[in-house]
Amino acid sequence: MLQTGEQLYHALLVELAQANTEQQVYQCKSKFLGRNGSITRLVKQIPTLPLHERAVAGRELNRLKSDAEQAIEKRLRDIIECKKQQQLQQSVVDVTLPGRTPPLGALHPITLTTRNIVSIFAAMGFSVVEGPEIELDFFNFEALNIPKDHPARDMHDTFYIDDEILLRTHTSPVQIRTMQDSKPPLRIICPGKVYRCDSDISHTPMFHQVEGLLVDCSVSLSDLKGVLIQFLHNIFDAHTAVRFRPSFFPFTEPSAEVDIACVMCKGTGCRVCSGTGWLEILGCGMVHPAVFRNVGYDPETVSGFAFGLGVERIAMLLYGINDIRLFFENDIRFLSQFI
Ligand code: PHE
Repeated sequence: MLQTGEQLYHALLVELAQANTEQQVYQCKSKFLGRNGSITRLVKQIPTLPLHERAVAGRELNRLKSDAEQAIEKRLRDIIECKKQQQLQQSVVDVTLPGRTPPLGALHPITLTTRNIVSIFAAMGFSVVEGPEIELDFFNFEALNIPKDHPARDMHDTFYIDDEILLRTHTSPVQIRTMQDSKPPLRIICPGKVYRCDSDISHTPMFHQVEGLLVDCSVSLSDLKGVLIQFLHNIFDAHTAVRFRPSFFPFTEPSAEVDIACVMCKGTGCRVCSGTGWLEILGCGMVHPAVFRNVGYDPETVSGFAFGLGVERIAMLLYGINDIRLFFENDIRFLSQFI
């Protein structure tokens, strides 16, 4: 019986060595150690042996059985380990690959430019004030010295909501609101959206302006020039040439338009400046006495200056953008370039 046991054990070892999958090992296990397995059957025969042989046979066969179990376990472990190694070799992990960065949002170029403009004026002591985009005719026109029949209204391409309510066509109404609410001296900057019924390569029905207003006693035109030149030299090149051209706005007197030497051709003349070498960049002037009277200020004791500039225009020059509509198409490929 012991001899048979040894033979079965060796047969098991041979079969195990040939088993290459876990399933084959389990088959082998049931063949030898299962309920009807050959080793199990042999163990069951122990009670039939003559008494004096049973103890030895029992001990030897049990040792054999536990050796067999260990051999099976080992073979199983080997196969699992081998499988794992194969999988590791097949799935190559390149630890030098860069990680995947999730896409980050970026600020809109108009927001960036507005912040830039505001921070330059903030450094000069101006504080930010905002006003409504849906505005009364009174604040947008009337109080700014533009009565109902004034030809200057034509320039504004106004979106009217009714006779008295409109979408503000400029940020100048914030001047009136602020002066009505507070006493001089004043030094404010008003960024915001404005609306005009106009649309082409350089106009969109909604665009952004920044308004400035400074009121104090004995403010002069040279204060206006100093502040604006300082601003333009800050936002563009510090050596950019600046010129003031006489102009007309009903709410300022005298009025001027400010040009800078073309940022593209440096003043030699190109398509961007239509060959003139100059780019018109903002409107400005000394606050008209009629405007002061409309808000209850005495034009004999206070004076001031105001200016208004288009944010899109400045952003286009700063970033070299040639079509204003790009700002509002919300094309991520365009917008994600401004970080
Ligand atoms: N409001 C004017 C415009 O939109 C600009 C401006 C503001 C001019 C303040 C002079 C003073 O064209």
